[in-house]
Amino acid sequence: MRRLLIAGNWKMNLDRGHSLALVQGLVESLRSISNVDIAVCPPAVYLGELGKALHGSNIGLGAQNAYSKPDGAYTGEISCAMVKDVGCRYVILGHSERRAIFGETDQMVNEKLHAVLAAGITPIVCVGETLQEREAGKTQQVVRSQSIGSLKGLSHDQMLKTVLAYEPVWAIGTGKTATPAQAEEVHEDIRTLLESQFSKETAQKVILLYGGSVKADNALELLSEPNIDGALVGGASLKQDSFEGIVRAASSVNK
Ligand code: 13P
Repeated sequence: MRRLLIAGNWKMNLDRGHSLALVQGLVESLRSISNVDIAVCPPAVYLGELGKALHGSNIGLGAQNAYSKPDGAYTGEISCAMVKDVGCRYVILGHSERRAIFGETDQMVNEKLHAVLAAGITPIVCVGETLQEREAGKTQQVVRSQSIGSLKGLSHDQMLKTVLAYEPVWAIGTGKTATPAQAEEVHEDIRTLLESQFSKETAQKVILLYGGSVKADNALELLSEPNIDGALVGGASLKQDSFEGIVRAASSVNK
């Protein structure tokens, strides 16, 4: 059985005071949840301080990005060793905003993925189609091609340590969630792809998250789908009650 993971991607939101207050509130309110993995991914400048606030809790810390090179003249970038050093257990890679706004390609995501795995951190690799691609009937092609490109060169063991997140671009920040059936269809296809690239056994163990307008009131039906193993949450991860509601929904799922 796969353990569900609920990860909050704060993106470029919340100031220092609100970040700390949210983390402190979540540590208290989610203390009793033991059957779900939980993570928050705040802006990089707050990682060190929030890592301390999360220490000893059941909430993991994640970065929203990290660079593939170990050190050197890369102004503005942060290495995998650095994010690990401040307590990160997770790094989000290849989010559609990084791909669309900052020009990240599958190859760049793949280089980062290898660096993150080498640092002993769990990568959360994002894939997903735009509305135009979905309407053109290209969802499967786009998701498969991003997955193959981003996951290139992984061993079975590395694949097992990698989390994938299906985030349809049209569902991000729009309030337009994929229906559970739409999301499940893509998740099932990703698992079939992993089966052909790795093995049935490996494919069955990989954690596949859904992301795109997940809220406390739609989480349960999405998470109840057989191939949806958790959520990558944007907007609803910025408030204690909505993120808590999603984690509690995950905790109540029985499958
Ligand atoms: P929203 O939950 O705000 O749609 O964002 C999803 C997302 O991009 C998480 O990475």
